[in-house]
Amino acid sequence: MTQFKTLDDLGDVTGKVALVRVDLNVPMRDGDVTDDTRIRAFQPTVETLCEKGAKVLLLAHFGRPKGQKSSTQSLSMVVGEVEEVLGQEIMFVPEIAGDIVAQSIGIMRDGEVAILENSRFYPGEEANDAEFAKAIAANGDFYVNDAFSAAHRAHATTEGLAHLLPAYAGRAMEAELKALASALDNPEHPVAAVVGGAKVSSKLDVLTHLVSKVDHLIIGGGMANTFLAARGIDVGKSLCEHELTDTANDIMERADASGCTVHLPYDVVVAKKFEANAPSRTVNVHEVEVDDMILDLGASAAEALGDVLKTCRTLVWNGPLGAFETPPFDEATVALAKTAAALSKDGSLTSVAGGGDTVAALAHAGVTEDFSYISTAGGAFLEWMEGKDLPGVAALSDA
Ligand code: 3PG
Repeated sequence: MTQFKTLDDLGDVTGKVALVRVDLNVPMRDGDVTDDTRIRAFQPTVETLCEKGAKVLLLAHFGRPKGQKSSTQSLSMVVGEVEEVLGQEIMFVPEIAGDIVAQSIGIMRDGEVAILENSRFYPGEEANDAEFAKAIAANGDFYVNDAFSAAHRAHATTEGLAHLLPAYAGRAMEAELKALASALDNPEHPVAAVVGGAKVSSKLDVLTHLVSKVDHLIIGGGMANTFLAARGIDVGKSLCEHELTDTANDIMERADASGCTVHLPYDVVVAKKFEANAPSRTVNVHEVEVDDMILDLGASAAEALGDVLKTCRTLVWNGPLGAFETPPFDEATVALAKTAAALSKDGSLTSVAGGGDTVAALAHAGVTEDFSYISTAGGAFLEWMEGKDLPGVAALSDA
């Protein structure tokens, strides 16, 4: 696993200024944060630093304002919610560098927290501009990155700062990297991966990387239809990227060559209409009619996949197996998630899941507590599943 310093390596930081990169790209509706998971994720880091007497400056982005200031994307909007989660008053600083930040630090007491303005209001952030990073670093004594979910971006606050100040992984980053390492870098075999979602095209690199790493590749969601079509099965009106059937065949050949078994459903749930509670039938994949849409895996397929998981020691999961947001097409995802959760609870399976849809699907199945680790990262989790080096993580280990 990548080596990096953690908060346990910090010496005396009383009165020192910690620049802490967190992920405050939280979902909001009508000015309110609708899910505080990402805020709760960095709470242990902030608490540790406050206990150690540091002055904590939180750095984060919100949305994609592309280097322009915009009142609807100011991080001032999340201050109340962060105060609520952390249980302490927080100062908002309407800049990210310069005198205003220095003056704010001057009036902060040890153990206090401030949020600096949206890093993406400044063009230097996404350009990873050295002068911009230096201007931010000038107000800090050390840097902590606790935003794994933004670590796939080589930006000034996610990457540049790690080269300018002593750099540490925060608690959430540390936990995430350990969990991910146990799932793919150095896992206990047999390893299974569940990859679902609508399109093969969005997960080509994930699939190509995984076939060389895992023993069982379980393909679900709309992308399974493309693989079924590649095997000559008529998928009717189902979502299917017919132009990618050669690619699907290529992935299956690579899997064969590396000893990875690709699991495709042999029974599926079909409907003539895609809407909640539409009349549906479970059929063998060879019985899909021309006007049918495949919307979920069948119960026998889900049970057989559960049996595969029972033989495995490690599971990585990204993407739902069916159209889980539209009942009854959630059943296979729920069934397999429950099997994985039970095996994880028994201690026979290490299960790591991630990605926006996946987190929602596992929450829907009521298994969030029982998986070994659930990452709330979206793009960063996918890039990690693609086997890519994440710049924010690489910078921590270089530091
Ligand atoms: C996320 O929400 O996944 C991270 O905060 C990264 O955001 P981005 O995709 O806008 O870089």
